[in-house]
Amino acid sequence: MATAIHFHDQHPQTHSDSLREESLLGFARTPKAISPKFFYDHRGSELFEQICRQPEYYPTRTEELILRRAAGEIAEIAGHNANLVELGSGASRKVRLLLEALHPSSYLGIDISRDFLLSSARRLAADYPWLEVHAACADFSQPMSLPEDALGEQPLAFFPGSSIGNFDPQEAQAFLRNLYRLLPDGAGLLIGVDLIKDIEILEAAYNDQAGVTAAFNLNLLERLRGELDCDIDPGRFEHQAFFNEAESRIEMHLRSPEAQLVRIEDAHFAFAAGETLHTENSYKYSLDGFVALAARAGFEAQAVWTDRQRLFSVHYLQRR
Ligand code: AVI
Repeated sequence: MATAIHFHDQHPQTHSDSLREESLLGFARTPKAISPKFFYDHRGSELFEQICRQPEYYPTRTEELILRRAAGEIAEIAGHNANLVELGSGASRKVRLLLEALHPSSYLGIDISRDFLLSSARRLAADYPWLEVHAACADFSQPMSLPEDALGEQPLAFFPGSSIGNFDPQEAQAFLRNLYRLLPDGAGLLIGVDLIKDIEILEAAYNDQAGVTAAFNLNLLERLRGELDCDIDPGRFEHQAFFNEAESRIEMHLRSPEAQLVRIEDAHFAFAAGETLHTENSYKYSLDGFVALAARAGFEAQAVWTDRQRLFSVHYLQRR
């Protein structure tokens, strides 16, 4: 029997709608760049799941460890019967670490990927029959509103994975401000944030030995090849990831070792030898730096948990 969930479809514009436009603009720019949101086609999402299991990629397992250990304290701050709202819920895996301790009265998963969202929400409802499960297909990176019955009276927003790090600090603040508008006064925000650390640990996490991050990065070109009328040979590009200390971010690029010309529809783009297409930034914060950014968006720090090595942090903030 299918498990009942409450589905709210906001009909977001999907990323494939803008792939063509944004590629043409991004390849014409100096330096060449494209948004990391285009990584996540079906293959890209699979590769990202694999990245999370690589020994060098510490964020996932460290955040899970922190959540497991802190679940009781998180529940004490949030109180029972909260309305848990997960942003970019994906497979709804990390939230499972909180459900028993928190015992929320409802769960709302928000994601842009409709099929993935529905199957994850149904699985969650089947595994936790006491939980009222809502799913909203929406683009939470854009200003949006949500039906009141989905949001509930005591929302606790959950944004794990340091996905906030893929925005630049100004965009991150604007994103938190949108969330501020969406949530009622006093609502909680539980957010995972990756920390500044030794450059060797950071760079290894984005250059895993098995080459999964490289495949994830190069898959962007495979995607362009599959979805657009273009001549681009992913074999003529290589993965590059390094820590830019001045900007406090890991940068990922696709580097053309030799000069080459690529075509997207009628437009031709020249790559000089060594030139790159910038594909992602992943910002790393200090604890104080992130607290200050959140405060500028109207969220006050309530608590923060880290692991012993201070690799990763989970902040509990309150909308004030
Ligand atoms: C989704 N996001 C937080 C990941 C990150 O670490 O910035 C995406 C990623 N890119 C390469 N590896 C993982």
